[in-house]
Amino acid sequence: MKTVVGVAVFSVLAAACSGGAAPTAAPTGFDNKSNGLTDEATHQSDLGVFDEFEAIADGLGPLYNAQSCRECHQNPVSGGASQVQELRVGHTTPDGRFRNPEIPINRGAVTIKGRTLVNQRAICPNGAFPDSEIQERVPESENIRTFRLSVNLLGDGFVEAVADSTLIDIARKQCSTERGKICGLVLYVPVLEAPGVTRVGRFGWKNQHASLLSFSADAYLNEMGITNTLQPDEVTDLCNTAAEPNDKTGADGLTDIDHFTRFVRTTKGPARDARQAATPVVRKGEALFAKVGCDICHVAALTTAPAGAQINGGKFVIPAALGNKTFHPYGDFLLHDVGTGDGIVVAMPEHYGRRMAQVNWKELSMERYDSGANRIRTAPLWGVRMRPMLMHDGASLTLHDAIVRHRGEASDVTRRFSELSPTDQDAVVEFLKSL
Ligand code: HEC
Ligand code: HEC
Repeated sequence: MKTVVGVAVFSVLAAACSGGAAPTAAPTGFDNKSNGLTDEATHQSDLGVFDEFEAIADGLGPLYNAQSCRECHQNPVSGGASQVQELRVGHTTPDGRFRNPEIPINRGAVTIKGRTLVNQRAICPNGAFPDSEIQERVPESENIRTFRLSVNLLGDGFVEAVADSTLIDIARKQCSTERGKICGLVLYVPVLEAPGVTRVGRFGWKNQHASLLSFSADAYLNEMGITNTLQPDEVTDLCNTAAEPNDKTGADGLTDIDHFTRFVRTTKGPARDARQAATPVVRKGEALFAKVGCDICHVAALTTAPAGAQINGGKFVIPAALGNKTFHPYGDFLLHDVGTGDGIVVAMPEHYGRRMAQVNWKELSMERYDSGANRIRTAPLWGVRMRPMLMHDGASLTLHDAIVRHRGEASDVTRRFSELSPTDQDAVVEFLKSL
């Protein structure tokens, strides 16, 4: 009896010293079930909104890429990644600075500015507007051109719930341990739902957002052309008929972007292939992955802030289902130059709205944004076995090719990988196939 009490007291003390109870594991699974944030019926109905197709009457376009979130985020289930690639372009001025593209539409009568995205579809010319030629095309002058693959969203509620300080600590530690050779860039980005507030970016290939609500608003406007409370301005008014904002508040008091956000926050992280993971070669590959230093950037485990913590400028309070959870993204959510950089700087009006200049955003640093031109977020490797095209541009088609393509900050790690025997290199690849 006495010992039991003693153990209990000890663990309470240990918990108090480490700032709370021991973290528990975040649920994983490709089953599209709730991670516990909402009840199952609510999650299935949010999933329905994420899967919904939008039409012209709902505000689709005028310029757009797809009719529904799931068109680009559904492998193997809604919320996953996909093969869909987007087009981003720009150019540099003679002084070497990146400039957003200027894209003439409607026979040059209108110029689209302030975004690097080139929409690959348009709603007109159509029956109502037979004379409006609004399809965007890449002008010859925009000589920086890249593709960007759609990314995984499953488990992103846990990523959002990681404290800024956790990411900043990883950047600091990797930079000191690797003597300045590997230093993740921390980018403070606007939280659209909390004007003036910034937070450490972690979503998108360029870490352009920190909040899932902000990202959903950005995606609804820029991918689908649906204006919403946080992104109220159309990219063009040509052949636009639906009233702004297109995304209306429903009977439940929520807009579509609220549903998308809650859907993503309620997803489980990608599950590992348990059968593959149990093989001896994978365990060997996992050890080699750490030994050569892949895990300096592809960090195996992160823990979320405790339940009750306020994030996104106090607009989201971390609930029990997301708080103090350990998950395994194999990423540090920081920007690195691994020699694959596309030269593109985050376009402010595109991602943060055309009225963003009316707000004074704390700690917004243009120098940091500019220095992100050739940096890319470490691709989180959870669920990588579901992705047949790799890296931001999808240009690497085998895991081995993706690995040896890493240069820049990763060059020492790539060299150590290349010095492994072919059998050991294969073991690392087999490990990746278990993720
Ligand atoms: C046409 C394809 C396409 C559509 C449609 C689309 N997305 Fe995306 N999504 C992408 C691409 C590509 C990225 C990576 C963007 C980048 O950084 O350039 C992305 C990234 C994201 C991210 C960041 C995830 C992370 O971990 O970095 C979120 C969140 C997201 N999308 C949500 C949505 C929502 C919600 C919708 C529906 C409103 C949507 N997307 C519609 C292609 C699409
Ligand atoms: C300096 C940080 C860093 C190190 C070290 C590093 N990576 Fe990466 N890794 C990245 C970045 C950044 C990307 C995304 C690059 C891009 O898309 O252009 C990436 C992408 C990848 C991808 C593609 C994933 C996808 O979904 O497209 C794989 C696979 C990968 N890394 C494996 C490894 C392995 C294995 C090692 C060790 C041999 C390693 N990386 C070392 C930063 C790093």
